[in-house]
Amino acid sequence: MQILDGIKLSKEIKNEIKSLVESYKEQGKRAPHLGAILVGNDGASRTYVDNKIKDCKFVGFESSELILEDTISQEELIAKIQEWNNDANLDGFIVQLPLPKHIDQEAVINAIDPNKDVDGFHPMNFGKMALEMETFLPATPYGIMEMLERYEVPTAGKHTVVIGRSRIVGRPMSILMSKNGNPGNSTVTITHSKTEDLAKYTKEADIVITALGVPEFLKADMVKDGVVIVDVGITRVDDPTSPKGFKLAGDVDFENVKEKASWITPVPGGVGPMTRAMLLKNTLLAYNRNNK
Ligand code: GUN
Repeated sequence: MQILDGIKLSKEIKNEIKSLVESYKEQGKRAPHLGAILVGNDGASRTYVDNKIKDCKFVGFESSELILEDTISQEELIAKIQEWNNDANLDGFIVQLPLPKHIDQEAVINAIDPNKDVDGFHPMNFGKMALEMETFLPATPYGIMEMLERYEVPTAGKHTVVIGRSRIVGRPMSILMSKNGNPGNSTVTITHSKTEDLAKYTKEADIVITALGVPEFLKADMVKDGVVIVDVGITRVDDPTSPKGFKLAGDVDFENVKEKASWITPVPGGVGPMTRAMLLKNTLLAYNRNNK
């Protein structure tokens, strides 16, 4: 069993980006600039946004953060987005999800200029991804693809089973794994909450990518020997022994499944850090488009 080490790999990627930014600055160019909008005070979302800003500082990007009350109206939020769309000094930005219930997520995503949508959530970017055109890929699937590529995990001709069909992870993951390229060229099955006898599919899988959010859902008897496991699940579960009062749990019963796996991502330290690094790569792409 080998670990797909997202901490190590994301450090390498962040150092590559840092060197590039240093070389831009030596050439007298401005730094890439990423923005993040957070609505409300959800603890996990706050941590994600703080980490994104921290990453910007590490690689030498400029960053802007806008924290808005959860009582903000949809119109006011969209007005802020339009301000940022028109800000020539900002290469790209994200609106952290989920949004409060009174705000239509679709309307908000559609309001983001596709050229600044470094999350890759806008329908135009999602469509380009599906058509295998160059675009911003959603950061989590992008991070998984980068991880499979850098660890040289074979995917061509393999049967990949994706668990979950969310627009952020499962759906784009299924598209990327079936694309004509490396990684890719997989035969993909996408499973979800209405799938009957899910284990029937996971038992047949060469690669399982799970994004379900149910701690330790995937057990050893649900996979075959030599399987590659990518665990996107990251759920806060109560843990009185931890100073924070919680620990992070993946979708995979790691201790049991690892015995059967050829490659496996840990939680934490697998997919999560890769997601963070890929947002920086997308911002770099936006910057380079702006500085042609
Ligand atoms: N919420 C959970 N994951 C993400 C993400 O990748 N981007 C944004 N904007 N919100 C999220």
